[in-house]
Amino acid sequence: MNKEVLRALSYGVYAVSTKDGERDAGCIANSIMQVTYDTVAVSMNHNNFTHECMTKNKKFAISILGEDADQNTIAFLGFMSGRDREKFDKIECLEKDGLKIIKNSVGYLICDIIDKLETETHTIFIGKILDGDYVDSSKPPMTYAYYHKVKKGNSPKNAPTYLG
Ligand SMILES: Cc1cc2nc3c(=O)[nH]c(=O)nc-3n(C[C@H](O)[C@H](O)[C@H](O)COP(=O)(O)O)c2cc1C
Repeated sequence: MNKEVLRALSYGVYAVSTKDGERDAGCIANSIMQVTYDTVAVSMNHNNFTHECMTKNKKFAISILGEDADQNTIAFLGFMSGRDREKFDKIECLEKDGLKIIKNSVGYLICDIIDKLETETHTIFIGKILDGDYVDSSKPPMTYAYYHKVKKGNSPKNAPTYLG
C-alpha cells in the first residue's frame, strides 16, 4: 500500500480546547469534519491528555487556524502534553463559554459531546455545535496540505495522519 495517497485527503488544522477541572487543556487536531448541519466529528488519540479531559468535561471548542498561525501555537499544543505543562500560558487567547479560543485564528466552534465511536487507537467524538463565529474572516484557513508543503510542518505519532 502506498500510504502517501492518504496525503491526498483534505483537512484543515485546528486547536481543540477543553477543561481539566479549572485548568485548560487541548491540542492540535487535523481530523475534524462537519458531520451534519449542526454536528462535527473529532478523532482523538486515546493517549492524548485532551482525550481524558474531553471524556470528563463533555464539552470542547475548536479554533480554526489560519495560514498565518503561530508556529509556537502548533509547537505547544501539537507536540507537548498538558499532562506535563500548562500549554496555553504563552498563547494569546480569547475565552468563550469558559473555553480557550486562539486569538490568532479564523474562527471557532463550541460543542457539547453527544456521542462517540471507538477505534483501536482513537475515539471519534461527535460534538453538537452550540455556538460559533469568525474571529477574523479575512484570514485564509490553513489546510493540512499547506501545513506540510508551505509551513514544512510535520505530525507526531498520535495524529491519525502520522505516516512514520
Ligand atoms: C498538525 C497536527 C495534527 C494533529 N492531529 C491530531 C488529531 O487529529 N488527533 C489526535 O489525536 N492528535 C493529533 N495531533 C497530535 C496532538 O496534537 C499531540 O499528540 C498533542 O501533544 C497532544 O497533547 P495532549 O496530551 O495535551 O492532549 C496532531 C498534531 C499536529 C502537529
